[in-house]
Amino acid sequence: MSQALRSVAEARRRARRVLPRVVYDYIDGGADDEVTMGENEQAFRRLAFRPRVAVDTGEPSLATRVLGTEVSMPLLLAPCGLVRLMHPDGAAGAGRAAHSRGTLWVLSSVAGVTLETVADVPGHKWFQLYASGGRPEAASIMERAAVAGYEALVVTVDTPALGNRERDARNGVTSPLRLDARTAIALGPQVLARPRWALRMMRDGVSTMGRPAGSDEAGGGGTQPGSGMGAAGAVAMLASPFTWSDIAWMRQRWPKPLLVKGVLTGEDGRRAADAGADAVIVSNHGGRQLDGAPATIRVLPEVVEAVGGRIEVLLDGGVRRGGDVVKALALGARAVLVGRPYLYALAVNGQTGVEQVLDVLRTEMSRSLRLLGCASVAELDPSYVEGSSRAGAFENRS
Ligand SMILES: Cc1cc2nc3c(=O)[nH]c(=O)nc-3n(C[C@H](O)[C@H](O)[C@H](O)COP(=O)(O)O)c2cc1C
Repeated sequence: MSQALRSVAEARRRARRVLPRVVYDYIDGGADDEVTMGENEQAFRRLAFRPRVAVDTGEPSLATRVLGTEVSMPLLLAPCGLVRLMHPDGAAGAGRAAHSRGTLWVLSSVAGVTLETVADVPGHKWFQLYASGGRPEAASIMERAAVAGYEALVVTVDTPALGNRERDARNGVTSPLRLDARTAIALGPQVLARPRWALRMMRDGVSTMGRPAGSDEAGGGGTQPGSGMGAAGAVAMLASPFTWSDIAWMRQRWPKPLLVKGVLTGEDGRRAADAGADAVIVSNHGGRQLDGAPATIRVLPEVVEAVGGRIEVLLDGGVRRGGDVVKALALGARAVLVGRPYLYALAVNGQTGVEQVLDVLRTEMSRSLRLLGCASVAELDPSYVEGSSRAGAFENRS
């Protein structure tokens, strides 16, 4: 076992050394010129705290509830495709790590395993839905997710078409990403340059990676892309053009919590609430879809204000420090999700790596709260960050 991770930035550096270029770029890259991807992180950096000094906070409390589920901290694992490519521990390893740290995870529709395969991972788990086959396919996947015990449905709405991932194209990977025999041969030199990864993958059997979570055990999921491709196929992401009427339709069929992922404006936040969603995730897909979309932390206050407490608001994109989580909570997010941070960590140390990065972020969150003079995540409000139009309203409170 290699040395414990000390920061997300370190996890990223080490993942780059462990993974073949094509896999690293698949995680690390964004759409077009990667402007939105960069902005997600930069916007957090530009947002400054307004600390209260000389406050004895004691050990700050991080525990909270997300859609009724108690979590030990306001940090969840975002749904990510092809997780087995990073490490054989894959989605199950990430899920176990989340559980061991008292939080929850979201299985992607294209994680590379069927939703039943990882249903026995202990703890709370949500399922993220893509369904390029429309309502019939969505209905069947939702039914299976309910039977398998997933506690919430996360419907991703920012993928009516696939983002233009130029790094993948440069690496000779077709879109959507496929790993078949021909690609493997073409990528041979990259793979050989990372023998440890190659060995792990060979032992694990690359053959199981390509199965969409919504496909059945035999991989023959009817209209599903990726189904019937044979053992070596893999699909990273599917175009999945859901509309608001689809969301309302899902609401009728899914009695448990329903979240809409990919909202970036106040108007769409309101539409999600009107369609019956219990929460929105303010997200631009980590800058992997529409380049030029705004940084998520920048639009968070608009969405929070528009939904006016009717539904919960979560956020993802660019969270790299515990302090970023604290900023998002101050601006009204109930919790945040991370994608790349845990994928890098998984690549480096498998499940243990994910646990390490969750520990790092927890420690950073706790320290930020102490330095901010805030005793609990529940006490955060916009007055703890600069430049928010709502900060003034809180200034005289304490
Ligand atoms: C490699 C990778 C695969 C992803 N696959 C999915 C997916 O299958 N479904 C989905 O809704 N979002 C997917 N996302 C987006 C994440 O859920 C999340 O929105 C994003 O990673 C957050 O940004 P961050 O990586 O800066 O934390 C993926 C992101 C990455 C990096």
